[in-house]
Amino acid sequence: MKVVLAYSGGLDTSCILTWLREKYDAEVVTFCADLGQEDELTGLHEKAYATGAVKSYIEDLTEPFARDFIFPMFQANAIYENMYLLGTSIARPLIAKRLVEIAAAENAEFICHGATGKGNDQVRFELTAYALNPSIKIIAPWRSPDWTFKSRTDLINYAKDRKIPITVSAAKPYSMDRNLLHISFEGGVLEDPWVESPVETHVLTTPVEQAPDEAEYVVVEFEKGIPVAVNGKRLSPANLMRELNRLGGKHGVGRIDIVETRFTGMKDRGIYETPGGTILFHAHRALESICMDREVMHLRDQLIPQYSTMVYNGFWFAPEREFLQAAITESQKRVTGEVRCKLYKGNCFVVGRRSPYTLYDPEIVTFEADSVYNQSDATGFIKLNALRLRVAASARQPE
Ligand code: ARG
Ligand code: SIN
Repeated sequence: MKVVLAYSGGLDTSCILTWLREKYDAEVVTFCADLGQEDELTGLHEKAYATGAVKSYIEDLTEPFARDFIFPMFQANAIYENMYLLGTSIARPLIAKRLVEIAAAENAEFICHGATGKGNDQVRFELTAYALNPSIKIIAPWRSPDWTFKSRTDLINYAKDRKIPITVSAAKPYSMDRNLLHISFEGGVLEDPWVESPVETHVLTTPVEQAPDEAEYVVVEFEKGIPVAVNGKRLSPANLMRELNRLGGKHGVGRIDIVETRFTGMKDRGIYETPGGTILFHAHRALESICMDREVMHLRDQLIPQYSTMVYNGFWFAPEREFLQAAITESQKRVTGEVRCKLYKGNCFVVGRRSPYTLYDPEIVTFEADSVYNQSDATGFIKLNALRLRVAASARQPE
């Protein structure tokens, strides 16, 4: 049998590679997606072959990740449980899509991933894989009766015994996931939700205590709800994320400490650093506030929790997400313009916005004298709106 394994070269997936060969006599093709994790990708081919892979794929997917996944999701202002900007959730469909495509190209019947049986990632990988190839077969070692390892120590011992090349990072105290949008930390000391996260969980953001005492301004430009330039400079989607991460990170923007509810139902505590995404989130909303019709915005706002749950639960390649996306893309036709933000000690303050399509009209809204609005019109407007309230107030109350 032939298996395409989602591989990072870390402890878990290195052990899985060896285990697939031992248990099933499998030919293993490894696939590592570069989504901006900034891991040591050099030497990864060698490591895969040294661990017994028949073929190793490493692909730079940073541009399609930003362009086709992050940006459409940010058009929707997606946010899960009002806090989480979905940095891991949005990466999984792209990884699974490539796994399935590589399986087809390699004539492999199986794909395999290292997500546990408790989490969200298993669901996201597998829903995507089935949506794109209904007959794909999936191996999830952590759920397999043949998988006898219970802990990291078991895995480390197995790796030593089988001479699997693993690095010191195998000793890392958290479950981490990094890409162009965020880094997440779960597990270890964080499992006590009362304990404050230690300083080593600062990777993308400066602790606020050490952030610069001078504020810094950043101007983000959007076209139809898609960010295209930072401080007047047009950038590719991935480079735009990198630049916003650098600026936001410097000022400690976009760090959260939350307990969220997994699709499997359990509560899970995580630390997330999403510096660039946090700037984008606030800037995009601010631009919408001047460009978007009230009724469209309010309707769209009602859909945000549903859209976000779809992404979180792994239903990216699903008709309901595509249906909402079509409406969201339509809602962004006029969301073009610039937003000016001030970054200061963990905050991203919006301080200015402008657009060629602005609906904001100082002629109408002004507190000064105007010639376009007749204030006495509001009398009838209020009276008719009050009609049923007055009827109800004067109707006889039930005993
Ligand atoms: N709880 C977050 C989510 O479900 C982060 C998951 C991180 N995954 C990982 N393999 N470390 O999206
Ligand atoms: C895992 O369980 O593999 C990571 C966390 C998650 O998927 O929610």
